[in-house]
Amino acid sequence: MKIAIGSDHAGFPYKDPIVARLKERGIAVVDVGTTSTASTDYPLYAFRVADAVATRQADLGVLICGTGVGMSIAANKVHGIRAAAVQSAFAATAVREHNDANVLCVGSRTNSLAEVLSFVDAWLDATPATGERHAKRIRMISDYEGGTK
Ligand code: RB5
Repeated sequence: MKIAIGSDHAGFPYKDPIVARLKERGIAVVDVGTTSTASTDYPLYAFRVADAVATRQADLGVLICGTGVGMSIAANKVHGIRAAAVQSAFAATAVREHNDANVLCVGSRTNSLAEVLSFVDAWLDATPATGERHAKRIRMISDYEGGTK
């Protein structure tokens, strides 16, 4: 399992702790930046992570900004990406089980680091969407987008 991770300046303080958590879980990590709290633009990192997942260079992606929302808006522009911004462990589980979210977006200004680490764990521990009920809905999205890449 390989995960691509990226953040902007707001999310940067959470990035290394999340990388450490992923490595503890035996996951290989590709860090696409940013590398400091100097102001930068979240779409840059959202597109890098989303492209890595869409081209199968990574299995999944994690993005961190102030709220997770800007990252999810940008990442969802990339074909084949289902990016979900979550603010609870319940949502982190649900977006994997129901929506097969392949990119998890979290916010450093909306949740504590401990909460965000629990979201990452919940998302990874959840079983990706199985069964026709969820598969059909995910297919509807993919068909609208123009088919799975
Ligand atoms: C940066 O100030 C902030 O706008 C960004 O991190 C993010 O929250 C956008 O959605």
